[in-house]
Amino acid sequence: MCGIVGYIGEKNSIPILIEGLKRLEYRGYDSAGIGIISNDKKETRVIKSLGKVSKLEEKVEHLVIDNSSIGIAHTRWATHGEPSEANAHPHFNKDESLYLVHNGIIENYTEIKAKLTKDGFEFVSQTDTEVLVHLIDSFLAKGSSLLKSVQLALSEVRGTYGLCAISKTEPDKIIVARKGSPLVVGIGDGEHFVASDVNALIGHTSRCVYIEDGEIVEVTKDKFTVSSIDNEEILKEVHEISVELDEISKGDYPHYMLKEIYEQVNSVHDSFRGRILMDEGTAKLDGIDRIAERIANSKRLVLSACGTSWHAGLVAEYMLEQFTGIPVEVDYASEFRYRNPIVTKEDSMFFISQSGETADTLAAMKEAKRRDALMLGICNVVGSSIARESEAGVYVHAGPEIGVASTKAFTSQLVVFALISVLIGRKRHLSLIDGQEILRELESLPKKIEQILKLNNQIEAIAEKFVNAKNFLYLGRGYNFPVALEGALKMKEISYIHAEGYPAAEMKHGPIALIDENMPVIVIAPKDSVYEKVITNIEEVKARKGVIIAIASENDNEIDNLVDYSIKIPDTIRMLMPILTVIPLQLLAYHVAVKKGLNVDQPRNLAKSVTVE
Ligand code: AGP
Repeated sequence: MCGIVGYIGEKNSIPILIEGLKRLEYRGYDSAGIGIISNDKKETRVIKSLGKVSKLEEKVEHLVIDNSSIGIAHTRWATHGEPSEANAHPHFNKDESLYLVHNGIIENYTEIKAKLTKDGFEFVSQTDTEVLVHLIDSFLAKGSSLLKSVQLALSEVRGTYGLCAISKTEPDKIIVARKGSPLVVGIGDGEHFVASDVNALIGHTSRCVYIEDGEIVEVTKDKFTVSSIDNEEILKEVHEISVELDEISKGDYPHYMLKEIYEQVNSVHDSFRGRILMDEGTAKLDGIDRIAERIANSKRLVLSACGTSWHAGLVAEYMLEQFTGIPVEVDYASEFRYRNPIVTKEDSMFFISQSGETADTLAAMKEAKRRDALMLGICNVVGSSIARESEAGVYVHAGPEIGVASTKAFTSQLVVFALISVLIGRKRHLSLIDGQEILRELESLPKKIEQILKLNNQIEAIAEKFVNAKNFLYLGRGYNFPVALEGALKMKEISYIHAEGYPAAEMKHGPIALIDENMPVIVIAPKDSVYEKVITNIEEVKARKGVIIAIASENDNEIDNLVDYSIKIPDTIRMLMPILTVIPLQLLAYHVAVKKGLNVDQPRNLAKSVTVE
């Protein structure tokens, strides 16, 4: 998704803007640009480049302009108009006195563009954003202030936006507005920052305010004023940014994704740290303790999410039904919002999102809100939109996840749902002993993850054999069926190899037709209650010459005679097994992609946070 950075203060804005864009690269983009105003207020400059921020940085180095202490910058993830310099932001008006960067979609841009063209405005890009610039310019031309011009322009558009605008006519302020695309204002001493997320603020300030939908902000170097759409000033709560710089750097790892896979020893621990009440066999979740009774009395639990978070919801379905006895439904957020979902105030809804900014999940939430259900957020990014829209919720505490392919957030989401299952289960029929067993097993996970990570070289060697595979089939049963889906998603999103996850039993209802010596089949086969059934599935694949990689229990010696490769991992209780079985699949996908020379952290066409529909 697009990234926005703005700066106004006393320092040279250019290095701050470039560094900010680099911190937002993980969001996914195809082009970048910056727009600045010189301190003598005589000059404006816009510099854009296709491709990486490093290319923009090279261009900027040759820029001859006096110090500039105000500027805006953008990384673009193309929605309207192909990736090109002309379509990159900032967009500007004819005399280049007004610059604007935008994240979101202007749905009625065609009709606005037609009207502005008729009024003589010339367009140089194919983007929807450019209509905003000329619309604002049309109000500036009638004598409105920059703030008023932005307000008037926004009153005419339909769609979503997170935007920053600067103008040579009022060079001591940045105008910021938000509807549907996140923006945060960083508070400095004699300087202020604007960004799409706090990662761009780290190292500059630890204080920020989150801008809500419908708010517009006038930011100068000394203050910021937040107003509602009808000009009421709004006082904002200042938040502390708890993320440190080293948490968002790669350190000694070649890729963020590998760092985040290895961080799971600590992130899984951080997700349950301080939340286990062993004597009572229950969990302490500050974000939902006060409404735990209401959740326990729900008629139904509805989980809504996208992508990997949806897979976490599928695992959570097994956990919650097994240990709370409450019926659970799991929905793709993008489907939920367009169905006519039967949701009532007797239901509790969990919205699962690593970024807390996924547009489909946020929209599903707003749809559900109309039906009075209890709205709960399970997020990783503190202060994110979904977290703030929720009545209550639980942060998964996985730490910043920069790699586009979600890894540690997934396992932390599962830890949190195990804790929720125990907390709610103990208010219903879960016994003290069973609650304590789950909590003890949770505490044993970090050590077991450490053991699995020691298999990295073996997994890399296996990956070597499948670099040229054209397809993969992932099979799992019970708790491990969602892990099969998740393993397949990891493989396809970073190695661009088609991969499909299936319930192992479903194979004979179709996919078995795909099995031949060219079809690698990954089978998740820990020694659990469905092990014998999975072995039968393995034999069915074997009989058709499929090549089998098994994720198996470390004490399983029989399986080696049946499969081509076996990755042996420690056991735990069934409900927590997905937290362990997913890790070899993360590493397998990672190594295949690296061996294919692909951009593991920023796969093509993908964004870390999909803030458009
Ligand atoms: C997972 O590896 C993908 N990056 C993607 O499916 C992601 O899980 C999905 O877009 C949901 O993101 P969220 O958890 O931030 O809402």
